[in-house]
Amino acid sequence: MKDVIKLSSGDPDFATPPHIIEAAHRALSEGATHYTPTSGLPRLKEAISEYYRKFDLNVDPNAEVIVTPGSQQALYLTLASVLGPGDEVLISDPSYTVYEPTIKFLGARPVRFPLDRENNFHPDLDAMEAKVSDRTKMILICTPNNPTGTVLSKTDLEAVAQVAREHDLLVVSDEIYSEFIWGDGRHLSIAALPGMKERTVVIVSFSKTFAMTGWRLGYLIADGALVKQMLKLQGNMVLCPAAFVQMAGVAALTGPWEPVKAMRREYEDRVNFLAGRLDEIDGVSCPKPEGAFYLFPDISQVCTSSRKFCDGLLEERKLAATAGVHFGPLGEGHIRLALVRPVDVLSEAADRIESHVKESRTR
Ligand SMILES: Cc1ncc(COP(=O)(O)O)c(C=O)c1O
Repeated sequence: MKDVIKLSSGDPDFATPPHIIEAAHRALSEGATHYTPTSGLPRLKEAISEYYRKFDLNVDPNAEVIVTPGSQQALYLTLASVLGPGDEVLISDPSYTVYEPTIKFLGARPVRFPLDRENNFHPDLDAMEAKVSDRTKMILICTPNNPTGTVLSKTDLEAVAQVAREHDLLVVSDEIYSEFIWGDGRHLSIAALPGMKERTVVIVSFSKTFAMTGWRLGYLIADGALVKQMLKLQGNMVLCPAAFVQMAGVAALTGPWEPVKAMRREYEDRVNFLAGRLDEIDGVSCPKPEGAFYLFPDISQVCTSSRKFCDGLLEERKLAATAGVHFGPLGEGHIRLALVRPVDVLSEAADRIESHVKESRTR
């Protein structure tokens, strides 16, 4: 279809900052065309360790980091290294679409715990603990959250940590949107809580922070013994991530950070603009998310099927959004919009949504 406004995929519209591209060019001409160590280039792992200090985490770059081709692969390495058939993993409802199928593919079982719609999609932690069984191996959390934008507070994280310690569970913490928190909020890593570093795998990416989705670069931080196991799988699967891409990653982390700050400012403007605009539409409720660059408006008063609503939006209004139910049963009644277009395009998107809502209500 022509002239579609595509807000269905979390692929930033920004170009990768020039100093990162230059670093990749330079690396290629200087011979970064060979294999690297399986866990990644020492310079990059040192830069990662340095960067994570800002989240109060002390990381041994030699033993506790694996650089991966995208964080999706870091997630797969983690799940495949730990889970066996019949093991259970607690994931939130709703949650990022990839968690459930990956867990199922490995013969394990995703068990969903509810996020509380009435409380900005923060987790209902008693309900979460009630889902723990003797087959539960891990809890997978995502903060800031895709699709809800929820940023877990210290209290939320302490409660998750408490459950993990009490039932001897591993926590996988997807932190790929940590640079995008709105207002005065601050990212907290559960791994930095007392006694949690050794039972947490932190999943991070260059994709969103530096607008580098197509480069395929991410990493994980985990306990040294687990890293050793995961490296066997990484060695057999990918051998190592591309050398010149890793050099670009060093340039990204060591700065300058002004381009990231500029992207953050622009995303926050988009979030403020579109959340405000959608919330004014009769029948739509769109609270401002705490972080990440998605909106997750409630359209349940207009249409009970988010899939039907999104199909109509695309076919009749040429606007691509993702149906909330795609993220889990509790996502029903919502749609997810990725704010990867400038404000003038988002304004047109809001007009199209408004027309669609008005027409749907009179049908
Ligand atoms: C929550 C979350 N985790 C992981 C990923 C994977 O990102 P990548 O493989 O590009 O690092 C995404 C991509 O949208 C995501 O939203």
